[in-house]
Order: sequence, then C-alpha cells, then structure tokens
Amino acid sequence: MKTYYKQIIKDSFTSTKFFQNPYPVYEELRSIHPICWGNMMKNPGWYVTGYNEAMMILKDTRFQNRIPLPQTSKKYECLKNIQHDMMLFKNQPDHKRLRFLVSNVFTPKKVEYLRPFIHDTVNDLLHQFQQQKSIDVVSDFAFPLASLIIAKIIGVPQEERYQFRKWSADLIQTIDFTRSRQALDNGNAMTIILRDYFKGLIKKRKNSPEEDLISLLIKEEQQGDRLTDEEVIATCILLVIAGHETTVNLISNSIVLLLKHPKQLMELKEKPFLIEGAVEEILRFESPTQMTARIASEDITINQTTMKKGDQVYILLGAANHDPNKFQDPHLFDIMRYPNPHLAFGYGSHFCLGAQLARLEAQIAINSLLAWKDNLKLAAPDLQWRKLIGFRSLSELHITFD
Ligand code: HEM
Repeated sequence: MKTYYKQIIKDSFTSTKFFQNPYPVYEELRSIHPICWGNMMKNPGWYVTGYNEAMMILKDTRFQNRIPLPQTSKKYECLKNIQHDMMLFKNQPDHKRLRFLVSNVFTPKKVEYLRPFIHDTVNDLLHQFQQQKSIDVVSDFAFPLASLIIAKIIGVPQEERYQFRKWSADLIQTIDFTRSRQALDNGNAMTIILRDYFKGLIKKRKNSPEEDLISLLIKEEQQGDRLTDEEVIATCILLVIAGHETTVNLISNSIVLLLKHPKQLMELKEKPFLIEGAVEEILRFESPTQMTARIASEDITINQTTMKKGDQVYILLGAANHDPNKFQDPHLFDIMRYPNPHLAFGYGSHFCLGAQLARLEAQIAINSLLAWKDNLKLAAPDLQWRKLIGFRSLSELHITFD
C-alpha cells in the first residue's frame, strides 16, 4: 500500500507556520498514515511520523545510512570524501569498526571526568553577565558553553574555539533539506578549511600528545586496528556538526520551555534533583534533531507499507516523540513524565555517541542558570525558529533578569 500525501507535504513544510510550530503538520501526516510517500522540497521518499514505525526502521540494518549528497555529482568533492569517512554515514561492518575505535573516548567515566570543567565553564560565563540585565541565551550562553566544551574535548585551543559557530553553521546547512547550492558550496569550502586545520592539529599532537580526543584517537589501537588520519579528521568534523549545534539547541530549547512553564520551572528550582527527568522531557518535547534518513537496501514491509529497494526513508524524530500511541498527552510538557522512551538521540546501532555528554552539559547549564537569578523572563513572547527542517533551533533567545 502506498499512501500519498504529496500535497500536504509540499504545502506545509515550506510555510513559515511550519518552522514556528511543526507539530500540527506532523499530526496531520500521522493521521493519514504513520509511513507515507511524499516529495518534500524535491526529496521524494517515505515520511515516517509514527513512533513504533520509526523505532522499527532505526533498528533494522536493512535500512542503511547514506551520504546526504548526490552520488553522481563531481561537485562538493571534499565534503563528500569527508562524509564518506564519518561513522554516521557508514553501514556494517565499517560502521562497527569506526564506532568501536571512537567509542572509547566517550565512556561514562570519561564524560563524568568532564563534570568539574563543565561546572567551571558555566560559572565563568554566568559571572561575565553579572553586570547585565539581559542576555541572548543562544549567542551569549549556549554557543560559548558548547564550543568551549567540544573544543576542550577535541583539543582545539581555547582561543580558536570562537570559530565553532561559523564552522557548525556552514556545515549544518549541508545536511538539511532547506540547503541551497550556495549552502553546499559554502559547506564544501568550509570542509576544506577544516580538513587542513585538523590535519595541522593531528601533526602537532603526533609530535606532542595531550589529553584530548585527537591525541587519543591517534594513539588508540584496538585489536591491531587504528583510525587513519582521514578518519580522525572526519570524526572531528562530525563532532563539530553532531555534537555542537545540537547541544546549543538543547540548552536554548530548555530555557524557553521552562520559562513558558513557570510552575515547572519553580518546581525544578526548588528540587534540582528533578533535572535528569526534566532534560529527558525537553529532549522529547523539542527534539534538537527532528529528522534523520535511511535508504531501503531491499524491499521491506512495515505496518502494511512496502518500501522498495532504493527508496529514501525520512524518519521524523520530532513527530515520533509526539505520537499519542506512545506518549500520553504528547503535547503536554511535563518534567515528571516517566517513563520517557523518546527517540531524540536516535535508536539502534547509530544511537548518539555523545548522549551522556549532551545530557550532562544541559543538566549543569539549566540548574546553574536557574540558581543564578530568581526572576528570569523571556524578553519577548515571540520566538524566531531557524528555517531548518532537520533541526529545532532558535536563532536567538533574549531573556531579562534583575
Ligand atoms: C542534544 C544533543 C544531541 C542530540 C539531540 C543528538 C542526536 C543524535 C542523533 C539523533 C543521532 C543518530 C542519527 C541517526 O541515527 O541517523 C546522533 C548520532 C551521533 N551523535 Fe549525537 N546528538 C547530540 C549530541 C551529541 C554530542 C555532544 C556528541 C559528541 C560530542 C554527539 C555525537 C554523535 C555521533 C558521533 C553520532 C553518530 C553515531 C553513529 O553513527 O554511530 N552527539 N546524535
């Protein structure tokens, strides 16, 4: 069975209303069928809005990851080569090998080791705002915080971390549906700069290793195998995209949601130990990554829908996380929601490698900001969401305080 909702997709996904609030569109699509055929912004494929269907697809390795660039085009060579070496776009057995070699630097122990550094970084930032009456949470708080942390992890010198915003802004555009040729050109140019930058850093660390991810990845040898320099470079660039931008969005989305739900904000302020559940609910409610994609490697039938070999499959994580068949009152923001088996970090073999780190950063950032001032307020009721389909990301978030 092939359920079409071509018209709905075409009209809805490009409207300003959609970028401001995508959930009514997701609901409309799901009410037709949780897996439907459509063509959004010249991307024909299956659009998945149901939770169970999304989970089944994510855990089924017959749905493969692929480089999100036209295979035939000779353009964007550098971007393509780098993406080719990223674990996110690999399939078995290559994916398992790469993930195994990198996962050692993201163990719970290594993440926990960063706790004091994250606390200090948050406190230093808040200290800088001491004389101010307002900040933009996105540029002044979430961006510097996430950059300082990822820069430390990777081994990018602190004084160079200000470049992260430009790096990630150019790269994130290359994997979103809304990308233009210009965005791909910029992304390709940025990848060349980053490739050379990380090449230089690898050379430095080979001569004098430090306690950072680059040094660890270079020396890490597991079962007689190690990453090539190209794979180390691709991993660093993947972390700039996957690990930085999404964490900025999680922190900014957290603040806006709590300020819009003052009772829950007060409760969290009084009982900071509720923070773990609160962050899970924020991840569910405004998932920083809204969409991921796969390609069917053979004909596969799920929920009476046969996806043919070669069909593109777009999994709308933000929609799955609001599926009423899985979550009671899915549009209710409730920091006490339990259990909360959201798919914000994906599911299956590509489950986010940085999930614990992202959680820890958000937990510390939110609790510290709430403890810092009593009267945080949104400066304006209207919010500007960036025009991205795969990410839930605020352009700016101004808040005031005394
Ligand atoms: C709130 C923050 C974050 C969100 C919402 C998020 C979301 C995701 C999602 C949905 C995937 C799976 C994509 C797919 O299956 O196609 C993923 C994969 C990944 N994430 Fe994250 N991520 C976040 C933070 C981070 C951080 C902080 C890091 C590292 C510093 C990171 C590193 C990665 C890596 C390396 C992968 C690829 C895993 C693989 O292919 O095996 N992420 N992330």
